[in-house]
Amino acid sequence: MFFQVGNFSVSQLCKPARVITAVNKQLPGPTLHVREGDTVVVHVINNSPYNVTVHWHGIFQRGSQWADGPEMVTQCPIRPGRRYAYRYNVTGQEGTLWWHAHSSTLRATVYGAIVIKPRHGEHGYPFPNPDKEEILLLGEWWNDDVVDLERQAFLTGDLVRPADAYTINGKPGRLYNCSGGRKRRRRHQTHKLRVQSNSTYLLRIINAAVNTPLFFKIAGHSFTVVAADASYTTRYSTDVIVVAPGQTVDALMLADADPSRLYYMAASPYQSAVPALPFSDTTATGTVEYVGQRNTKRKRRLMMVRMPKVNDVATAHRFLSSLTALVRRGGRTVPLAVDTRMFVAFRLGVAGCRKGQTRCARNAPVFAGSMNNASFVLPAGAVPLLEAHYRNVSGVFTRDFPDNPPVPFDYTRPPARLGFTAKSTRVKTLRYNATVEVVLQNTALVARESHPMHLHGFNFFVLAQGFGNFHAAEKRRYNLVNPQERNTVAVPPGGWAVIRFVADNPGMWLMHCHFDAHLPIGLAMAFEVQSSDLPPPPADLPRCSD
Ligand code: C2O
Repeated sequence: MFFQVGNFSVSQLCKPARVITAVNKQLPGPTLHVREGDTVVVHVINNSPYNVTVHWHGIFQRGSQWADGPEMVTQCPIRPGRRYAYRYNVTGQEGTLWWHAHSSTLRATVYGAIVIKPRHGEHGYPFPNPDKEEILLLGEWWNDDVVDLERQAFLTGDLVRPADAYTINGKPGRLYNCSGGRKRRRRHQTHKLRVQSNSTYLLRIINAAVNTPLFFKIAGHSFTVVAADASYTTRYSTDVIVVAPGQTVDALMLADADPSRLYYMAASPYQSAVPALPFSDTTATGTVEYVGQRNTKRKRRLMMVRMPKVNDVATAHRFLSSLTALVRRGGRTVPLAVDTRMFVAFRLGVAGCRKGQTRCARNAPVFAGSMNNASFVLPAGAVPLLEAHYRNVSGVFTRDFPDNPPVPFDYTRPPARLGFTAKSTRVKTLRYNATVEVVLQNTALVARESHPMHLHGFNFFVLAQGFGNFHAAEKRRYNLVNPQERNTVAVPPGGWAVIRFVADNPGMWLMHCHFDAHLPIGLAMAFEVQSSDLPPPPADLPRCSD
């Protein structure tokens, strides 16, 4: 498969066309259809003016660690005019994942779906075969250049401003009056899902938004969730789906509503920190339309959909904490003996600038994210983390990421003086095959919001999650039988989540907040998994300079 990364113009929201960077001139980009066990080769050809890399979000990359994609972690960027072939196997996972740029803010327009079906001739889906499948990629749209917006935000030490719209398969889909004063309203760029009465649809819902968790609903219809982050779940019935950036949900929908009507589908923001943090108070809409209807000439009545309030934490938490894994024979089980325990308190705060640091133009304190008071910076030189690990290059990172916060405190009401943090590139070194448990404690310094924590290279079990400060007594609540498996967990606002995984994948793996704006300001860390099994870098791996 070929991914041509290049610029082209799109016009949305009645605005004049603007130039965006995307793959194969498509927004969203092309879908990768594979079967479990397949080998994938994607040639990424960079015809854009930016440095770019592509990350295959949720793919384990066992044996193909150099193909994971985060810039300056597993590779140097693919520079303008250059190319790189990502080669990897998709093993041990089925369902929906996605790919996106892992370089500056290009992810806003450089993204697409990955659909992994069961192998031919093996078992099928662990649920009744759907009649049809549909991909619903939820995104965010800015009327201005997003790369510029983020650059501006860095220079001023500020946060990136909220998006102008949310999108479903690239379309904001509301009614716009593009003709200015005249009455006639135009239906503008709306995603339409055409369904057959009494058929079952497998909806593959992906939150590819840059900075916003989303609620998703379809008027007059309900869902049965069957998978999340390409891991099967026990069936869960709901009429609202919640996806944080990075997460995916596969859900069955039976088209059993009155076929003579039209139904809204909608994606609206979930932001617990209003009004402390600004958000885009808009809703992306699409329509569900029954085909094969007589009288299609007549205008059909549209059924509206009632979305949860933007700060409806209860609805979000109910959905996110209710999913459980489908336990299958021969499937993964939770390891009970833990080798490495960590307590990671993360937050937004402020940081000073290192001398000569380019992202701190004014040498003044700037917004910073941190984990255990370490604010992560990617290597600034020419050696990415994985290469430094592989070739034993010193001075690129240090192995002293702290297992605990420097001082314990009330994480829901932290004293302001704890806001200050220093920049560093500290990693946590893990023994190969160690079982690792991490308590992710959300610390509400700026605002109480849910952060989607994403781990590269692994799925983890989410053993428990809750609000307030984590206490040892919560251990009694751990689900060790059928906890959901994820690659991204939305840590509750002012709360915590406990994850457990086996470090059976050698290499360098980022764990970071999947709000795009929070990674470059340091809400990240990396795991180094030691093993002699790491393959050598492929010959065409990009170099940072000639
Ligand atoms: Cu989907 Cu490091 O990202």
